Amino acid sequence: MTGIFGRGHTGTTAPEMPPQAPLPTPPVADEVATPTSAPVPFARTSVPAEAVADEAGVLEQVDGLVAEVDPGSVEVTLGPTGRPLPQFPDPSPVTGPTHARVISMCNQKGGVGKTTTTINLGASLAEFGRKVLLVDFDPQGSLSVGLGLNPHEIEHTVYNLLMDREVTLDDVVVPTGVPGMDLLPSNIDLSAAEVQLVHEVAREQTLQRVLAPAIDRYDVILIDCQPSLGLLTVNALTASDGVIVPLECEYFALRGVALLKTTIDKVRERLNPRLEIDGVLGTMFDGRTLHSREVMERLVQAWGDKVFHTVIRRTVKFSDSTVAGEPITSYASASGGAESYRQLAKEVALRCLDV
Ligand SMILES: Nc1ncnc2c1ncn2[C@@H]1O[C@H](COP(=O)(O)OP(=O)(O)OP(=O)(O)O)[C@@H](O)[C@H]1O
Ligand SMILES: [Mg+2]
Repeated sequence: MTGIFGRGHTGTTAPEMPPQAPLPTPPVADEVATPTSAPVPFARTSVPAEAVADEAGVLEQVDGLVAEVDPGSVEVTLGPTGRPLPQFPDPSPVTGPTHARVISMCNQKGGVGKTTTTINLGASLAEFGRKVLLVDFDPQGSLSVGLGLNPHEIEHTVYNLLMDREVTLDDVVVPTGVPGMDLLPSNIDLSAAEVQLVHEVAREQTLQRVLAPAIDRYDVILIDCQPSLGLLTVNALTASDGVIVPLECEYFALRGVALLKTTIDKVRERLNPRLEIDGVLGTMFDGRTLHSREVMERLVQAWGDKVFHTVIRRTVKFSDSTVAGEPITSYASASGGAESYRQLAKEVALRCLDV
């Protein structure tokens, strides 16, 4: 795929991870900090086997999880990211006029939880009283299908909104089964936009232009990107205030993250100076495996505080809720997966929404 930056994003020579602070235990004997082009160090370190998160991604108070900060005084619970787990307050009700924060779910790697996070973070924010608009910006249309729409029966889609000036936001927007959450649906038609937009003036700003009327109507707009760094994703990043990077807690998921960061940096420099990385989200975490915990540890070393304290555990309930065409927050409201996304909503609200 050739992006706006002229070079193909093959990723074969890309550095594996963004620059990082030197590791506490240097991976090489001469104590040189890891260069960004070097392979991801992945040395096993001793993580207590008891550091197992519960279903909600919130750690149980079991042996090995309670770290004493100051002997005899305060105790802190270590979260699944290996850092002290803060308490996140419920977002306060919205009062007064709104101005949406636009957040893209972005990772060029497929199947890492972008769509699942868009649906369930959106539904959780709606539960907390936020007015949410979801944008299906993937020709696979998974977000639309995951919310119960039949892709062949959608009259107007994001494609029409992008390409036909006669079509307005109101023509395309549909309510979802979640009160307070609307959707701009997509289907395979959107794949044509990637080709057709190339010939448009201000092609990278097209989504930003069509979303402009929604900014004053919603509190949060979440864009579900496709797994590529092509023109559609660049449009999403140009329209966004922030990016959330869902990352499967699996070693191969670490590959290519530096390329994503380079793309985000270039969009910030050339197209959208307000673009921030709102957070990196560990998904499909399995606290029982050393591997998941090592990947998490590695993520925190590379991205520091950008890594959300909330992680999303691997559970088959997500696939079940997709089949049911509804968020896990309604399909299995009391499940650990639903609770994790509610916690993420609180963390996102605290971190980057005005609460
Ligand atoms: N925490 C989880 N535990 C188990 N399965 C999950 C989890 N999150 C997502 N899944 C499942 O993994 C699959 C991929 O998830 P999802 O569609 O959200 O990824 P994606 O990044 O949007 O994929 P794509 O790049 O193809 O758009 C889906 O079947 C989904 O139900
Ligand atoms: Mg998806």
